[in-house]
Amino acid sequence: MKSINLQTLPVILIIMLSVMAGRSVSAQETNKTIENKVKHLLSQMTLEEKVGQMTQVDFTVIGVPKEQNAEDQIDPAKLEDAVINHHVGSILNTPFTPDNKSQSIEIWRKMMRTVQDAAARTRLKIPVIYGIDAIHGATYTQNSVLFPQAISMAATFNPELAFKEGEITAREVRASGQQWNFSTVMDIGRQPLWPRLWETFGEDVHLATVMGTSYIKGHQGDDFSAADKAPTCLKHYVGYSYPLNGKDRTPAWLGERTLREYFLPTFEAGIKAGSPTVMVNSSEVDGIPGHANHHYLTTILRKELGFKGIAVSDWADIERLYTRDKMASSPKEAVKIAVMAGIDMSMVPFDFSFYDLLIELVKSREVPMSRIDEAVSRILKVKYQAGLFDPKPLLEVEGNFATADAIETNRQAARESIVLAKNDHNTLPLKKDANILVTGPTANLLSVMNGGWTITWQGFAEELYPQQKLTVLEAIQEKSTGQVTYVGGGSFDAPIDIQKVVDEAKNHDVILLSLGEHTYTETPGNIETLNLDQAQVDLANAALATGKPVVLLTLGGRPRIITSIAERASGVILGFLPGMEGGEAIADILYGDYNPNGKLPITYPRNTNGITPYDYKPIESFEQNSYNPLYPFGHGLSYTTFETNGLKIEKDKISMGKNIKVTVNVKNTGTLKGKEAVLLYINDVAASVTRPNKQLKAFKKVELNPGQAESLSFTLTPHDLSFIGVDLKRIVEPGDFKVMVGNETVSFTLRK
Ligand code: BGC
Repeated sequence: MKSINLQTLPVILIIMLSVMAGRSVSAQETNKTIENKVKHLLSQMTLEEKVGQMTQVDFTVIGVPKEQNAEDQIDPAKLEDAVINHHVGSILNTPFTPDNKSQSIEIWRKMMRTVQDAAARTRLKIPVIYGIDAIHGATYTQNSVLFPQAISMAATFNPELAFKEGEITAREVRASGQQWNFSTVMDIGRQPLWPRLWETFGEDVHLATVMGTSYIKGHQGDDFSAADKAPTCLKHYVGYSYPLNGKDRTPAWLGERTLREYFLPTFEAGIKAGSPTVMVNSSEVDGIPGHANHHYLTTILRKELGFKGIAVSDWADIERLYTRDKMASSPKEAVKIAVMAGIDMSMVPFDFSFYDLLIELVKSREVPMSRIDEAVSRILKVKYQAGLFDPKPLLEVEGNFATADAIETNRQAARESIVLAKNDHNTLPLKKDANILVTGPTANLLSVMNGGWTITWQGFAEELYPQQKLTVLEAIQEKSTGQVTYVGGGSFDAPIDIQKVVDEAKNHDVILLSLGEHTYTETPGNIETLNLDQAQVDLANAALATGKPVVLLTLGGRPRIITSIAERASGVILGFLPGMEGGEAIADILYGDYNPNGKLPITYPRNTNGITPYDYKPIESFEQNSYNPLYPFGHGLSYTTFETNGLKIEKDKISMGKNIKVTVNVKNTGTLKGKEAVLLYINDVAASVTRPNKQLKAFKKVELNPGQAESLSFTLTPHDLSFIGVDLKRIVEPGDFKVMVGNETVSFTLRK
């Protein structure tokens, strides 16, 4: 038996008592202790050390030159200069090796130890926090588990999977030695042209809130100082995702009511879920660049939402207030505007200009020391909360990285993310011995299922993808006992021999036509139209003209226009970006080894201008206007059938401020076991600000055997009935409401 040291007894008793007294007390105590430590440390810091903490640089600042293919990628002199001479508080990104790619986990661990060793040699031994864009898994660590991208995770309507993705990602990030994940994107995806639409959880506020907060909870646990947890970052605060012209980093024309109603709530929820950092909108809203917006960054974020963590700039965006936005008349003024607006850390990223200029600004009293102390306190606090001052050995690779369990979870997420949009005459599932002609530019690539932020920033380095993962074609070949013929080019851009497709069709039962997009993110992904390129349309027309049944599969981050193809195809599968296990998941569904249950997290437009979301306003379906998408939000078929009925509300008159219980039955009326997400919408019948025709307020996913039924109950809260009123405040108005599930509607009156 282990003996207890009497001297430690009081400590043990205190811990036990605080555990018994409840978590909140001990959390408060921890906070207090951290605040004291921060104050103490801050009191010892020089101006230079403080401003260094506010400086974040890219790996290149500490790395060997790009051309030099060195074994050791950190240049010790440059690291010394950054961490010791310039006191930098944070570093980000993957090394600029000749091909700017992911690294092995061993290299990452070695590099991260080198960085922390340098920090340990600084006067006050303040650790560096290393940040990485692990947006669907540990992007830049070779062979990490790369999940479906957020748009596809949203299509699962399964928050448990988002939670697990968070857990697994945090583990792999920490096993790689990194400590801060620039994820999750809490922007709302309502502009289908935007090249980062797929980084969002789709167009709906409730769905994105549930999926995003589940991810955060998995990633951070109750305490992100744990060796296998890490802080998340809410991106990109706020309004970034709604550029009027659809191009990345162009203005959003958003009034504050719309901003508060649709774009702010996910951030508010992310803050409540405990995310300690936000990254700032790289663009502008209503004429004010995100990095200069004091109202958003200080009044709303701090005073209203009570955010206590770090606001980090996006890439080079402080300098851009001068170079791009012409808001500042010099780089120095840009630094002043951004810091005074409320930014705590600058992702500079390539030099020490921010550091030099901010020191000058403090010395000339243009930026008060109190503002510096505030920013640095926030940074130090997150470093303490993340356990960085108490360094532990790096999380072991064995058992924490690319485990069989994690890969299986990923495959399940991929399966649940696939949306079966059309299945005429039960074309699907295919028989294993069917003869299949596979064609189209996305059939035999891994990159097209993963999107940007995969191995490289843009994600298109197909040659670097793990060879053991299967493309759609390869996964079909593995399962099929029939003849599988592939007609395609070796890469996305190589022309496909259309005549060969037509000739080969004769010898096959079905054509799998795999269309979509190559990979991209950010500005390189800007497009002029949602139309598919002509080469794909020509291929589709030729395939459809053969008279053989065509199953259309789309892969890519945006809903490219497929209307005329989808109308003639026998089956349509919308794959979006299902990640590394996407090929196998799609083959599982094609052959009926898995019963599809994904649902659209966005409205799939019929035409290029069809950018009306599902929660449109009455005026958008008035007179000549109509909501007429190719597939609506929430659409998704199964190989079985489900029915919902018996929608009931506990009372038809409800007093303000009370919760409302709603029940509904769901039944599997088909012949196969399957999962179904049941979606509950409400409509506020008349209000002082126009209300959407319907809004998702709750959902539940259930798995049912054939013939099995389940009664589901939902609780609507006063918040669910609220909206942003005329005076920009959230209010609830009495009156009539409708609740809708499936084909049923019930009503209630909310009384004062
Ligand atoms: C992107 C961010 C990303 C950052 C760091 C920026 O260009 O907008 O989403 O976190 O780069 O890589």
